Amino acid sequence: MKRMLSGIKPSGQLTLGNYIGALKNFVKYQDDYEMVVFIANLHCITVYQDPQELKKNLKDAVALYLAVGLDPEKSIIFLQSEVLQHAQLGFIMACNTYLGELNRMTQFKDKQAKNETNLSAGIYTYPTLMTADILMYDPDFVPVGEDQKQHVELCRDTAQRFNNKYGETFKIPEPLIPTVGARIMSLSNPTKKMSKSDHGDKGCIYLLDDLNVARKKVMSAVTDDLGKVNFDTVNQPGISNLLQIHSSLSHTPIKELVETFKDSGYGEFKKAVAQVVVDELTIIQERYKQIITSNIIEETLDNGAKKASYLASKKLNKVQRKIGIEIRKR
Ligand code: TYM
Repeated sequence: MKRMLSGIKPSGQLTLGNYIGALKNFVKYQDDYEMVVFIANLHCITVYQDPQELKKNLKDAVALYLAVGLDPEKSIIFLQSEVLQHAQLGFIMACNTYLGELNRMTQFKDKQAKNETNLSAGIYTYPTLMTADILMYDPDFVPVGEDQKQHVELCRDTAQRFNNKYGETFKIPEPLIPTVGARIMSLSNPTKKMSKSDHGDKGCIYLLDDLNVARKKVMSAVTDDLGKVNFDTVNQPGISNLLQIHSSLSHTPIKELVETFKDSGYGEFKKAVAQVVVDELTIIQERYKQIITSNIIEETLDNGAKKASYLASKKLNKVQRKIGIEIRKR
């Protein structure tokens, strides 16, 4: 069976963008692939997090993984920091990545361009830890949204270079980007990605948003004055974003939606999108409420960490022997 691996960094509450671009697809693939999915909690601390808030976000994220339908019997689900090998392989990967490559990472460049002060070294080397997260498990595919594609490509380059230098060690993974919904945009500024760091912003729907709040956010989404429901990301980014959200959640092709709403006003179209969003959130939140008070989270993380640690220790051992730092037989 082919393997897939992915992770989410819950540095805030998980968003509809995380769900459509990534999480929903993990669930879709878990019957046909061996899924390895984790919560990237080490990645979270590349930017300061209030410790209490972070703990809550991490627990919520595990509950949401389960609430959206990830099945711990089928998928390996774990917390990154509980598999110690990630940090170790992360350092080794940092030693096999060039500064020039990290300087080209757009996420880092964006932060620098915003003149954010006190950027940590961790945020700069973050892609090398992500490389380790991936290569540790030799996945065939890495399902991610569009914004993570550059990091997966860096991972591929690093793996290829490592294999050339030290002999065949890592499988070269392919990024798997959804054709619809790979980049869900902010509802209040549809030229910008919907992001969990947009605290208090009307542009971001969180999976645990109050249903009325979520509905209002869709109803007040920025559109345009062309007055026609059309898929045109350049001239109608707001409407196109809403079409993508509807299409991803309702599994209706965009073409069909455009046909259905061709004579509708924006108000009517938004109402339909809001309903699809609220229906999806209702199911997720009902399951979440049952999970968060049960001990399934503990059990899932215990089992996941055990399974992942087994795979990770074998891989790290192999890597350390290849590069010459392991001198004892284990
Ligand atoms: P993160 O936490 O920023 O995002 C998690 C996943 O959600 C996708 N995503 C989106 N997709 C569509 N529209 C959006 N607006 C949107 N916002 C986020 C992301 O593309 C991603 O797939 N570095 C990663 C976490 C990570 C990881 C890994 C992923 C760490 N190690 C190894 C894959 C493999 C991150 O910060 O994702």
